[in-house]
Amino acid sequence: MATAQSPVYTLNNGIEMPAFGLGVFRSEPEKTVAAVRSAVENGYRLIDTAAAYKNEQQVGEGVRSSGASRADIFVTTKVWITDYGRDQTLLAFDRSLRKLGLDVLDLYLIHWPVPSAFEATVDAYKAAMKLLAEGRVRAIGVCNFSSRHLDNLIERTGHIPAVNQVELHPFFIQRELREVDEQHGIITQAWSPIGGIKRDGEKAKASKEVQDPLSHQTVVLLAEKYGKTSAQIILRWQIQLGTCPIPKSVRPERIAENIDIFDFALASDEVQAISALDTGERGGPDPEQVSPQTFPIANHD
Ligand SMILES: NC(=O)c1ccc[n+]([C@@H]2O[C@H](COP(=O)([O-])OP(=O)(O)OC[C@H]3O[C@@H](n4cnc5c(N)ncnc54)[C@H](OP(=O)(O)O)[C@@H]3O)[C@@H](O)[C@H]2O)c1
Repeated sequence: MATAQSPVYTLNNGIEMPAFGLGVFRSEPEKTVAAVRSAVENGYRLIDTAAAYKNEQQVGEGVRSSGASRADIFVTTKVWITDYGRDQTLLAFDRSLRKLGLDVLDLYLIHWPVPSAFEATVDAYKAAMKLLAEGRVRAIGVCNFSSRHLDNLIERTGHIPAVNQVELHPFFIQRELREVDEQHGIITQAWSPIGGIKRDGEKAKASKEVQDPLSHQTVVLLAEKYGKTSAQIILRWQIQLGTCPIPKSVRPERIAENIDIFDFALASDEVQAISALDTGERGGPDPEQVSPQTFPIANHD
């Protein structure tokens, strides 16, 4: 078994969270058990799923079949926007926990703000606060929140999320939001950390121009210099920015490759050179536009 060890962050409620993990969005259920097992064998200690990914059951199976002790694995799941509102979110949490086969979850995230129904978003978060108080989840947070959404939520609930998980890769580096998160003591988790959304997302498919940070010359040259792959260079950049990247792969060789980043460091000008690739253009949805009407996924199976 490989022994790549990721550092850990201490969240704002004292809970430790690995600084690196496996994402499973678009991991087909039939490939997810093996992917999770392979990740744990390669030293991953954080798995990021969501009710909307429809593979919570396979994530639970993967964790159990990996042989790792439950306490060593940090499991995140998320409530989907169609389940917002206090009672619905509590029910959604029970469904997620049942599918995962867990008694206690490590991190529960609000999947998107719904600006057109922010009241329901706040109520979903209040449900998560109740679960936290009851000890059914060890930490709670949000995804895709702007600084305005964070301010609103904090003002309405008096509670600071532990994590804000947002689109973040060399073409969309979220400089201001990372600063805001840091000021609040919130850990920024990076989704699409190697730019998957720029290759596989709806906008990418609709556009003729392929935007792939993995093939950008700045990244390729650094990969040659360090004898690493482009993905490893970008994931190392993420760690040096202070984010928590959660790259997705269902291929054992890439799962092993992606975590093999703790034996080298980029120079600070190299970190800056990658940050300079920022285009300011996200590949995924604009959080201001997300609503159950634009993303109607039901999770009541
Ligand atoms: N909170 C949110 O709203 C939100 C939104 C999107 C994603 N997420 C989370 O973030 C995770 C990661 O984001 P993502 O899946 O969009 O993008 P990503 O991790 O940046 O990229 C994943 C894509 O890159 C490929 N890949 C993985 N490792 C590679 C390597 N070493 N070399 C070349 N290609 C590689 C994968 O294919 P293979 O599987 O074939 O290797 C997949 O197509 C998700 O799985 C999910 O957990 C959260």
